[in-house]
Amino acid sequence: MPISTLDDRRKTHWAWRPVRQTRMRWGRWLADRPTYPRLPEFSNLDIFLSGNSEQGDGLRAAQLSDVHHGLFVSLREVEHAVELINYKSPDLVLLTGDFVTRSWVHIEPVAKALGKLQANLGVFAVLGNHDHRTDAGSIEHQLTGNGIQVLRNRHVVLQRERGGIGLAGVDDVWYSCDLAKALKGMPQDIPRILLCHNPSIFLEAVREGIDFVASGHTHGGQVRVPGLNAMYNRPFRSGLQRLSKTQIYVSRGIGRVVLPVRLGCPPEIPIFHLRSSSGDINYTHASG
Ligand SMILES: [Fe+2]
Repeated sequence: MPISTLDDRRKTHWAWRPVRQTRMRWGRWLADRPTYPRLPEFSNLDIFLSGNSEQGDGLRAAQLSDVHHGLFVSLREVEHAVELINYKSPDLVLLTGDFVTRSWVHIEPVAKALGKLQANLGVFAVLGNHDHRTDAGSIEHQLTGNGIQVLRNRHVVLQRERGGIGLAGVDDVWYSCDLAKALKGMPQDIPRILLCHNPSIFLEAVREGIDFVASGHTHGGQVRVPGLNAMYNRPFRSGLQRLSKTQIYVSRGIGRVVLPVRLGCPPEIPIFHLRSSSGDINYTHASG
């Protein structure tokens, strides 16, 4: 076989140029489509905790929700999300359920990928409705085995220099959710954060004096048909809401179910910047 010279390679290089350009144009076109699986975007939010909340001041927490590893969400996508979160070096990572969609074969790989998350105060998880439907016990076992604390109707108190922060987690509201049990024994005078997959826990959280709830479940609508914005802007579909001193953030998550696409509803990784508040609670959205 003749050895190709530099000239031959140059000729080949130029001959393939139109093909390469066409391929790049298609690549750009695909990357610009709202349905194309994109990298998640960061949503930066200041969360003002009420009362004696010095303990939480300055804490940064990343949320990852509705991963749905399975037919429509590859392991590579999950690994990308993990890399993005680690790049932000949060103090805490909050995983709000739906790690798989339906099949138990995806449990071990997704748990292993999520086990690479890094946060100095720890990685905490609650289960979603899809996790309960697939195999709650196995998902809990695999996540725990990969260094993730699964909060199933229980709480932990995170110790910081200025005092403790209560972090509670409950099972999904359609299954074995028990908020009273999760909060039992939690000191009253520390900031209280709750993880619950489904945002419908909100009114109960208000009654229990929770400061901040992190939820998912809705995927923000996942497929937002242009012209039907009113439907997607309903309370608790996505974003930050507040009632009394309790705030809730409903993440759009990163995964896809039923349909293999997202439309007009990009995947997100919220980063919460917890602040102390001495007066009325307020909140702002920050970009970047
Ligand atoms: Fe989900």
